Amino acid sequence: MRLAVVGATGAVGSTILGVMRERSFPASEIVPFASERSAGQTIDFGEDRLDVTALGDEAIEGFDLALFSAGSAVSEQWAPRFARAGAVVVDNSSVWRMHDDVPLVVAEVNPEALSGHQGIVANPNCSTMQMVVALKPIQDAAGIERLVITTQQSVSGTGKRAVDELLDSTHRALHEMAPEAPVAYPHAIAFNVLPQAGSFKEGDAYTDEEHKLENETRKILMQPDIGISATCTRVPVRVGHSESVNVQTRDPLEPDRCRELLAAAPGVVVLDEPARAIYPLATEAEGRDDVLVGRVRRDPSHPRCLNLFIVSDNLRKGAATNAVQLAELLHERGLLRRAARA
Ligand SMILES: NC(=O)c1ccc[n+]([C@@H]2O[C@H](COP(=O)([O-])OP(=O)(O)OC[C@H]3O[C@@H](n4cnc5c(N)ncnc54)[C@H](OP(=O)(O)O)[C@@H]3O)[C@@H](O)[C@H]2O)c1
Repeated sequence: MRLAVVGATGAVGSTILGVMRERSFPASEIVPFASERSAGQTIDFGEDRLDVTALGDEAIEGFDLALFSAGSAVSEQWAPRFARAGAVVVDNSSVWRMHDDVPLVVAEVNPEALSGHQGIVANPNCSTMQMVVALKPIQDAAGIERLVITTQQSVSGTGKRAVDELLDSTHRALHEMAPEAPVAYPHAIAFNVLPQAGSFKEGDAYTDEEHKLENETRKILMQPDIGISATCTRVPVRVGHSESVNVQTRDPLEPDRCRELLAAAPGVVVLDEPARAIYPLATEAEGRDDVLVGRVRRDPSHPRCLNLFIVSDNLRKGAATNAVQLAELLHERGLLRRAARA
């Protein structure tokens, strides 16, 4: 199987390569693509060194799979071209997620949606991804009517340059050096909390990131009527998104039963002994594929509401790991087009 990784030098792309190695993904050849800036560089991949290639009509021929993490503009232009050339694309950008003919898939939640693909499959937004992994067992057992969400998102969610900016601005502040003007965000991120993750459109009080949580959650859980109110914040954490989620269920659900359901759910680890300071932490989630859930408790203001705290590594389960899981499922289920034609 020939595989392309588009955006291979970025935060998600380099994590995809790492996850593929860890999981011994059965590719006969992997070609890393990036911008013209990186073409000619090499990337270590175990014993091998892979040559970084720029996108071009000839270079994209002959692939079975293409995992994209190079931003929406690149995906919009190049994902259909890879698909026309015979590959199935798993795309991390937001550009295809809400298209009716593009399945939006989380491996533990709705893998059956893959079978309807027409060449492009979308990976959800990182905040949505980790949340729906934890919500699925609750939806199945008690139904979900409404969600009130506040995220605390790490800077790696914005890419490699934002991580560099956090480290550099923190260093400058600690060493009493003059701060540099922020680039990744409208304000300095070091020692700060920004009540804005994503961008605002003129006249809209919510960010695009907040709308993604609403729209993608409804599509993945196949429930268009879930009420959702989201506030997405950016915090000076390197890796790992945290989310406080208030879930209003259709049927009553006790916190103990909720913990049991979560503990039995694929991809979820319950860490919930708050009196012993055991609960999900970004530092604990970094480098893991699990979605960590804790602080499961009754909302004292409503008999059918629970509060949860959900944390996961946004680069792994929030992006790279799910993309590789989808690639594995496409392969195992015979859903790759070139393989199907052969
Ligand atoms: N970070 C996350 O947690 C996360 C989670 C879910 C989804 N995503 C999505 O994944 C995508 C990538 O995010 P990231 O955080 O990995 O960003 P990043 O660190 O900035 O990496 C961007 C990658 O895209 C490549 N690229 C840029 N312009 C290109 C072009 N014209 N042709 C080919 N390659 C090009 C870059 O190559 P150069 O190195 O040559 O510039 C780099 O490899 C975005 O769509 C993002 O929304 C990110």
